[in-house]
Amino acid sequence: MAIKLTINEATLQGFQGSVPRHVAVIMDGNGRWAVQRGMARIRGHHEGANAVRRVVESCRYLGVEILTLYAFSSQNWGRPQDEVSGLMTLFDLYIKKERKRLLQNGIRMQVIGDRGRLSPKLQKAIAELEARSAENTGMILQVAVSYGGREEIIQATRRIAEDALAGNLDPAQIDEALVSRYLYTQGRLDPDLVIRTSGECRVSNFLLWQIAYSELHITETLWPDFGEAQLIEAFEDFTGRQRRFGQTGAQVDDEAQVDAGHQDEG
Ligand code: FPP
Repeated sequence: MAIKLTINEATLQGFQGSVPRHVAVIMDGNGRWAVQRGMARIRGHHEGANAVRRVVESCRYLGVEILTLYAFSSQNWGRPQDEVSGLMTLFDLYIKKERKRLLQNGIRMQVIGDRGRLSPKLQKAIAELEARSAENTGMILQVAVSYGGREEIIQATRRIAEDALAGNLDPAQIDEALVSRYLYTQGRLDPDLVIRTSGECRVSNFLLWQIAYSELHITETLWPDFGEAQLIEAFEDFTGRQRRFGQTGAQVDDEAQVDAGHQDEG
């Protein structure tokens, strides 16, 4: 299927490195971007929505399977009321404006988080887009809204306990795979790479369970300035990493050699 793009393809075309299967992004720095320009913070969020479009299209173009964007945390409800309502309006606008292009590009959109706190109107718009895009296989776009990693683990624990009490689950069955299935991310592949913009070195309650072995890439770029070039930079950084999953570097090298041997035989 031909992908509809508004981005600069040339920046992406020459990339020869590894493309992470699941990329998760903490989109930070919208407020500072606006304040640096003497604008209201909400203008930074609007510009951030343009960066969202660039990154969604770039990831789809490069073959990323899952893109997870941290758009609004459980703790963000504590921001000034006008900023909260401005962001909610922006999410609604984003769905209206981008729906067609997301569907044309075969993207499946899903919101993760406590959606019960969102307005009924926004919940409806989200549910409609989720339903319309449910069969798409081009890329999964998980948008974390009213999301907190600890909150996600609490709701999963509650539901596991309820199922155990109801006799539908033997506590001896509880393992990593089962817990993963009770999370908002429904047992999907964990992120390979987490990108955080604006230079802050924190995970801020984002995908706490899922990022246990993810690689972290932190860039000074503020989110509204993030585009194709910064994404390639993050993927180049990722390509140079050795993922060990608790093993030694030598073990990982040995396994890579065995795998390469099998490939030669095949
Ligand atoms: C953090 O920057 C960003 C947010 C809390 C909101 C993120 C929202 C968007 C990028 C808008 C569009 C999103 C979608 C999915 C349409 P900050 O405000 O904390 O920045 P600061 O640290 O500079 O103040």
